[in-house]
Amino acid sequence: MNKIAVYSGSFDPVTNGHMDIITRASQMYDELIVAILINKSKKSLFTIEDRVELLKKSTKHLPNVKVDNFSGLLVDYCKANKIYTVVRGLRMLSDFETELQMANMNYFLSQDKVDTVFLATLPKYSYISSSTVKEIATFGGSVKDFVPKVVEDALYDKLRNNNL
Ligand code: PNS
Repeated sequence: MNKIAVYSGSFDPVTNGHMDIITRASQMYDELIVAILINKSKKSLFTIEDRVELLKKSTKHLPNVKVDNFSGLLVDYCKANKIYTVVRGLRMLSDFETELQMANMNYFLSQDKVDTVFLATLPKYSYISSSTVKEIATFGGSVKDFVPKVVEDALYDKLRNNNL
């Protein structure tokens, strides 16, 4: 049986922490779909098209990783694509509460079909988040240690064009 999992998130933008989870999860499943949520109510720096492109470029060396986007409930995306495993990374204790709530809610909403598998984020990535990366870049700091090179370039382009 083909083992398939989805790694869902906002990825605004993808960080080295996300890349660590994607790389490790891609070794555990035959196919890993990185699914980006289209969330019109949340202000994002990168458009959905930008985020798809940045993820595709960052994962092009991983042949079993596909990039997709979705709107609505994650369990509906899972149902439509016959996926029963969601992968999420846990950075620190503060992630645990929301992640546990989301995992249990998704399990319930999917009538006990969609389970969540947590990977422990490596300590060297545990303090990286898309929001801190955006803040550092906005105030002129270097983000080269935190994101793939294509993302670093895209961030500075975006911030220059937005006059931030
Ligand atoms: O990268 P993020 O912002 O932590 O990812 C959160 C995400 C996209 C995984 C989560 O918000 C989600 O799955 N949203 C889709 C809507 C949904 O299914 N909500 C119910 C979850 S309890």
